[in-house]
Amino acid sequence: MTRSLKGEIFRNMARCFWIITFISLICTKGSEGQASGLQRFPDGFLLGAASASYQVEGAWNVSGKGVSTWDHFAHTMPERIADGSNGDIACDSYNKYKEDVQWIKSIGLDHYRFSLSWTRILPNGFNTPVNQDGIRYYKSLLEELKAANITTVVSLYHWDHPQILEEMGGWTNELMVRWFVDYAKVVFDNIGHLIDIVITINEPKLLCQQAYNSTWKAPGKVFNDMGHFFCVHNILKAHAKTWHMYDQEYRATQNGMIGFTTPVRGWVQGEGVTEETIERAFQFDCGWIMSPIYTGDYPEVMKTRIAERSALQNYPFSRLPEFTDEWKKIIKGATDFFGLNHYTSSMPTFDPAEALGTFASDTNIIGIADPSWPSGASGWLHIVPEGIGNVLRKIKDTYGNPPVYMFENGVSDKGEIEDYVRINYYHDYISEILTAIVRDGCDVKAYTAWTLLDNYEWEAGYTERFGILKVDFDSPNRTRSEKLSTHWWREVLRTRTLIDAREFTSHLRQRRREGSTFEN
Ligand code: NOJ
Repeated sequence: MTRSLKGEIFRNMARCFWIITFISLICTKGSEGQASGLQRFPDGFLLGAASASYQVEGAWNVSGKGVSTWDHFAHTMPERIADGSNGDIACDSYNKYKEDVQWIKSIGLDHYRFSLSWTRILPNGFNTPVNQDGIRYYKSLLEELKAANITTVVSLYHWDHPQILEEMGGWTNELMVRWFVDYAKVVFDNIGHLIDIVITINEPKLLCQQAYNSTWKAPGKVFNDMGHFFCVHNILKAHAKTWHMYDQEYRATQNGMIGFTTPVRGWVQGEGVTEETIERAFQFDCGWIMSPIYTGDYPEVMKTRIAERSALQNYPFSRLPEFTDEWKKIIKGATDFFGLNHYTSSMPTFDPAEALGTFASDTNIIGIADPSWPSGASGWLHIVPEGIGNVLRKIKDTYGNPPVYMFENGVSDKGEIEDYVRINYYHDYISEILTAIVRDGCDVKAYTAWTLLDNYEWEAGYTERFGILKVDFDSPNRTRSEKLSTHWWREVLRTRTLIDAREFTSHLRQRRREGSTFEN
């Protein structure tokens, strides 16, 4: 028997196993389905998975690609990466994208979110010359997805810009606004007709804090507690200009939607948590990025506190820059949706350091994690499903119930095939999301699992895995294979139902005891 025939037989057996498991789940529960936790997704709700170019593509220097900030950072400062690794090969998705699309199709995902590498398209950063191989690659990936009837969600920028532009100041230089818009125009002109949803920039807040006010992420520069403010200021301008360009020149023919996505940390009640601490934490986190979009300016509490603290530090200006009235008008309203990334929560309390006359941060808020909360493999990722419901309700109340597209949510582990933690996490978080939709009227339109493939987790290298598919980084072929969560997602998508993760796994364990196996 040939290997591929054997493989096909195994795959069919595995498929039968999961269908039987699911049917028996339904049968045992019968009419108590709802009570057992089975919840249906609203009609038209999008369920997908995401990735980002530097984290999966590899092929860092082929066919004319230029050097990005992450190429430079990981090559020149490997000591800043947990395992000293880089994204030179990563998941090799540059070469294996057709296989990736087949996996997406086989799981049944509605949409795939991926990002473009700026330097694969514009090796010199500026809009000339355009690297035709970059255009070919993304066009081909988009066409594969379209042929498989998968909604395409494209982030123009996911944290790795051209190194040459970084040497000219990167996001702390206002000229980046112009350079980004020029790059976006090349994208829209060449492949915009194949993109359903455009995300201009991924997580400006996290990028700016960790790349221009800490050494964690490329370029890893620290500028006197103000680089992150300049970075966000310029990113908001770049985003808004790009939104207007799309709106005026491309929307009518390309029929897509455009916005960006921001991470919002959740909160739960606990000692020292008050309405004020919750509000303050939310405004410095979400409001910093989203207030300018919905109201035209930064939140008052940020403006006041940062001005006060800047004066205490003897600066003749506030470290938080101001928008002119013209920019306020350009930025206000420049989005088609609220793009939300969410992973974790904490208990926001006032920092006792300030009461002692010192201040550790502009917020004066610290986020406390209850030691009893379980965590993923990433130290920061506490598993607190309740937090996402609170975030969604707060977004609804603060910004007038905008359509929310969740573009990231997921948990890390060490790469387990039987990733029980992951399916429990997905189940419990999505259950909270469905409650926020059905009970509280939050207008959530999409959910995106982070991430399709185990991949390069930035400064954590390959030590933390978020994938719903396993990637063997020891094999030159970067072989993909299924995890328990692959099966769970396949059943969720097939039935459009949030299948109870614990029942799903208890059936698995029961069948194991009876001698069945499943192929990973
Ligand atoms: C947010 C980022 O967008 C993504 O690149 C990263 O891998 C995940 N968070 C997990 O840390």
